[in-house]
Amino acid sequence: MLLSDLYSDTKKKLDNFNIESSEIDSKVIIKNILGLDDKDLIMNTELSLSKNASEKLSQVIAERTSGKPISRIFGNKEFFSMNFDINKFVLDPRPDTEVLVEIALNLIKKYHFKTILDLGIGSGCITAGILKNSEGTYVLGIDISEKAVRTAKNNLIKNDITNFDLIVGDWGQSLNKKFDIIVSNPPYIITKNIQDLPKEVKFHDPLLSLDGGFDGLQSYRSIAYQSFDLLADDGFLLLEIGYSQYKNVEKIFTGYLYWVPEETHQLKSPLSSADLKFSSGSIVKRGTEILPNIFAPAPIKTLFPILGCLSPRTFPVPPRVTECKIETLSPILAVSPITRL
Ligand SMILES: C[S@@+](CC[C@H](N)C(=O)[O-])C[C@H]1O[C@@H](n2cnc3c(N)ncnc32)[C@H](O)[C@@H]1O
Repeated sequence: MLLSDLYSDTKKKLDNFNIESSEIDSKVIIKNILGLDDKDLIMNTELSLSKNASEKLSQVIAERTSGKPISRIFGNKEFFSMNFDINKFVLDPRPDTEVLVEIALNLIKKYHFKTILDLGIGSGCITAGILKNSEGTYVLGIDISEKAVRTAKNNLIKNDITNFDLIVGDWGQSLNKKFDIIVSNPPYIITKNIQDLPKEVKFHDPLLSLDGGFDGLQSYRSIAYQSFDLLADDGFLLLEIGYSQYKNVEKIFTGYLYWVPEETHQLKSPLSSADLKFSSGSIVKRGTEILPNIFAPAPIKTLFPILGCLSPRTFPVPPRVTECKIETLSPILAVSPITRL
């Protein structure tokens, strides 16, 4: 059998179940089961499939067509050209979140930022992306799930990353240090909408990484309140937010004296060649590529995020100051005292 035939056959089986990512999934399945790399796939060699490999292939196809994501089947996922171990305690890192890392790296380069706080570190993908691609930076990563923090620790070590500390805690509660950048991809799905998410998400990503409370905004309220004193005066808070949440998230943060640069909710993706220039609240894009607009409406089912970039107090445009509404804070899932891993 030719490798290309095995590929077409696998892809067809996935297509029969309307698996949108059938092309890439088929390649990953074949590579993993036969122990091949990308080069081997291009070569299209003749192969004889052992009984063992054939059984494994059928089993994996069955798992995939029943809604298990490839990353969960093989227990790992690529993010920012690094490999991360994935388990039931951590969110499967999404390619969209790479944009958040790109923005952080742009800011680090531009303003020579050194200290970063990663709230809700999960698998460690954001922290790893930042530390691997910037010099002299330090990240403190926090998650309320101890199992997630342990997974992040293993992933950071596995990717030869140093200069981080990890804490089990409730967002930034109990911290008294200031950071140049606070980055977070918090849970932002409305509780009652979780049941409508695709099987790949609702049955495999941990609830703790999805559930944003009754209106999907509870994490943002906690983060807005807790991070205010943790962010340096000229620092940035970078958040991943749900596609329809921009206005509400903006309202929460401006309520806590954050200023949201005017055009940040129209950030384009990817930003690797983009230059973020904050002057009079605008973002100027460098380069000529036509970039897909990640602000395009998408059904919530796809968990398609939009990125918000928030900055406190010291920007030239005065913040819209409203009273802090502390009573709107989410119920605190206190983990006290905090545990440093
Ligand atoms: C959407 S996941 C993001 C994980 C990872 N940063 C990423 O981008 O793939 C949100 C993470 O926040 C964590 N989390 C939820 N509530 C938290 C809280 N109150 N304090 C700290 N972390 C929390 C979850 O355990 C989960 O790992």
